[in-house]
Amino acid sequence: MTKRITTVNEMKAIIQTLKREQKQIGFVPTMGALHEGHLTMVRASLRNHDITVVSIFVNPLQFGPNEDFDAYPRDIESDQAKLEPLGVDYVFYPSVEEMYPQPLAISLKVNRMAEVLEGSKRPGHFDGVVTVVNKLFNIIRPDYAYFGKKDAQQLAIIEKMVDEFNHPIEIIGIDTIREADGLAKSSRNVYLTAQERKEAIHLYQSLKKAEEMYDAGERNSRKLIDMIRDHLTTNTSGTIEDIAVSSYPELVEQKEITGQIFISLAVKFSRARLIDNIIIKGENHD
Ligand code: PAF
Repeated sequence: MTKRITTVNEMKAIIQTLKREQKQIGFVPTMGALHEGHLTMVRASLRNHDITVVSIFVNPLQFGPNEDFDAYPRDIESDQAKLEPLGVDYVFYPSVEEMYPQPLAISLKVNRMAEVLEGSKRPGHFDGVVTVVNKLFNIIRPDYAYFGKKDAQQLAIIEKMVDEFNHPIEIIGIDTIREADGLAKSSRNVYLTAQERKEAIHLYQSLKKAEEMYDAGERNSRKLIDMIRDHLTTNTSGTIEDIAVSSYPELVEQKEITGQIFISLAVKFSRARLIDNIIIKGENHD
């Protein structure tokens, strides 16, 4: 049975017992509205570790003033019903008041890696992410924590944070899970209109075309970006917010492609802002 824990103290007490019993803990942090992408991470944790903890917490610190914090989909019963049959041990489901009883006097700030890509469009977003993930790591004290590669910038920043702050945790990045037509699974896909849902397949299609160009020998980022822009403009009604070719995990813009790169894009539809990316392992990279 999946136990739902709502207080920090109870969660910490359970973790203390599990640690005493030398159980290995896998952790999947989420904001709920669980889909196959989350469940793939959960299954990996269940396969690999003694205990799996999933957190469900819509973290206000990582939403900007004009973002969808209030509207973000929340349905704990339906989420728990998805976790229960898989055999998840604990769902940590704190309230905002439980996590932040008062405005934080101290929070974390991402100095590098946040001023580009998603971070440049969403000021403060990654500060909010690392602040809550630090708190969650300190409460759950996992041995392993799972993050999706769909949020590749988040994954790179979390890996850096774990390294710089010496968390004794191994971060595991899980490949993006897609619908049959290629659209990356996301809790925000529910906001798409029927027409936008049809158009949204072109995000991944444009990335795949860029990969084909790369495979055919193109190494000029501008050419890849221009092709993606044309493809999206022709095939979708969304507003293109970003298309970039960066090194990964360093997230430095690349004019000429050499090592491992990350092609990312963000498109704003009427109510949903979608992101997607592919990571291409360059030559000389294992
Ligand atoms: O990726 C998410 O769902 C969130 O950013 C996370 C990691 C759960 C932190 O709130």
